Amino acid sequence: MNVGGKHFRTIWLNEDGRSVDIIDQRWLPHEFRVVTLSTVDDVAVAIRDMWVRGAPLIGVTAAYGMAIQMRQDASDAALDDAWEKLNETRPTAINLRWALDEMRKLLKPLPVAERVAAAYKRAAEIADEDVELNRSIGGNGLAIIKQIAARKKPGERVNILTHCNAGWLATVDYGTATAPIYLAVEAGIPVHVYVDETRPRNQGAQLTAWEMAGHGVPHTLIVDNAGGHLMQHGEVDMVIVGTDRTTANGDVCNKIGTYLKALAAKDNDIPFYVALPSPTIDWTVSDGLTEIPIEERSGDEVSYVQGKAATGEIVQVRVSPETSPSGNPAFDVTPARLVTGLITERGVAKASRDGLAALFPERRQG
Ligand code: MRU
Repeated sequence: MNVGGKHFRTIWLNEDGRSVDIIDQRWLPHEFRVVTLSTVDDVAVAIRDMWVRGAPLIGVTAAYGMAIQMRQDASDAALDDAWEKLNETRPTAINLRWALDEMRKLLKPLPVAERVAAAYKRAAEIADEDVELNRSIGGNGLAIIKQIAARKKPGERVNILTHCNAGWLATVDYGTATAPIYLAVEAGIPVHVYVDETRPRNQGAQLTAWEMAGHGVPHTLIVDNAGGHLMQHGEVDMVIVGTDRTTANGDVCNKIGTYLKALAAKDNDIPFYVALPSPTIDWTVSDGLTEIPIEERSGDEVSYVQGKAATGEIVQVRVSPETSPSGNPAFDVTPARLVTGLITERGVAKASRDGLAALFPERRQG
């Protein structure tokens, strides 16, 4: 998408043909910094410490990490080591393991001499595929926004609430939850987005709000606890969120707080949609609540908040007593029964085993 009038993806091959450049998301919205990752260790740090984040982007970055490793050492042992090192960086988003498995499946049977070229080619394909998947999700989600707009008075805005950042910054381009929104704006539909701040790391306040502002999407930043109130007062027409892992039966794991939005949406009869590319579906898992590992991050993310000081410096300030410990589960699971529909690249599925299998018959088991 556009940054200052120039098109950017979130990740691209450096001109040296070996390293990858990424937008270092830790400094947004205050500073736009690009950094180069040259080793598999660089890539592991960038994923673990959330220089890049968002399920699809984590997967693509890991794929490039495997390619970078192949350039250094393309042996079987190095391949397996890189897989392990990258896989343990973040446990919840399944796109990471999906992309690593894609790379290993391709590379293992190849002669060592052919692995480097094949690895860079496949990583680039995974990146391009992500863009295409998101475009298709956008079209399928746009149809839903159009239906809602058609029920409104002419010119009346469609209010969409989103949580965390499932925007272009979380993917290679377009985003998942935001793709339908960007297409709706292009189609001239008057949309307005309520952006949850998304504590503790504030991906909504820092990233989604920046994206919306950058693309002229009317939006309002709200605290995480405001969504239910707005829903009760008819201010929200639909919720669209992304997901880090959706199970074969349609349970949705996403950024902590998503479940509360889904509960409030259900209570107020507001459609709750989840936008996802198929690599985010974990076909091996049926029960999201018990089978998905929930990342527990540092309590410092809760105790401190990052922002820009009056001096222009980016600083972290403590918001809680020094003596109060903090807990930080990073994701929660929204049961399928609370989800109105799953917006995928192939269409909108019912959040159920049969619903997903109808769109992805090749994955139907039993
Ligand atoms: O911890 P993060 O910032 O990586 O979490 C991101 C999310 O939870 C997104 O909603 C999810 O990855 C979907 S991104 C298209």
